Amino acid sequence: MATDKSAHIDLADLEQTMAFGYHIGTVAQAGDVILLTGDLGAGKTTLTQAIGRGLQVAASCYITSPTFSLLHEYPGRIPLYHMDLYRLAGEEEIEELGFEEYIYGQGLTVIEWPERLGELTPRNYLEIQLISPTPETRHVTLSAHGNMCCRLKDFLEYDSLQRSTT
Ligand SMILES: Nc1ncnc2c1ncn2[C@@H]1O[C@H](COP(=O)(O)OP(=O)(O)O)[C@@H](O)[C@H]1O
Ligand SMILES: [Mg+2]
Repeated sequence: MATDKSAHIDLADLEQTMAFGYHIGTVAQAGDVILLTGDLGAGKTTLTQAIGRGLQVAASCYITSPTFSLLHEYPGRIPLYHMDLYRLAGEEEIEELGFEEYIYGQGLTVIEWPERLGELTPRNYLEIQLISPTPETRHVTLSAHGNMCCRLKDFLEYDSLQRSTT
């Protein structure tokens, strides 16, 4: 699957991760899909919490990784559908969930461990890969696929961070 456009951001600390995630939440549109990749502890759930704040999900809704279900749904400016596929047994399980109704629906879908999607990976999505060179810092690569590539700049347009686009 070809990457159409990518960019890098270096986040110095948790505060910068939260600012980046908040910004994503402010520019996300209904039907957007964000795939979060990176090792355990890289910050995928933390970034999702910040995205939720940017989507105006109430602070009383604490965003945690869905452990016993594949999906949590949070009301915000648009709904946030948060999936964690770490424990996924097979693609049938995602289909049973009504996966396509979510990703082509009225909210923002954020998916941890999207590698498990296999053939269900949508055509249009933004991948955000998180790497932690140190416990505090994060190196972020954004890769826009399909019609998300014309929106990549929106996800990068905010202050106070180092970034480079290719
Ligand atoms: N710059 C940073 N960005 C994201 N998380 C950070 C950062 N610095 C420290 N952390 C910590 O790293 C941990 C990331 O955990 P989590 O978000 O659950 O990871 P994942 O969902 O990728 O397994 C959290 O405890 C968070 O507070
Ligand atoms: Mg997680």
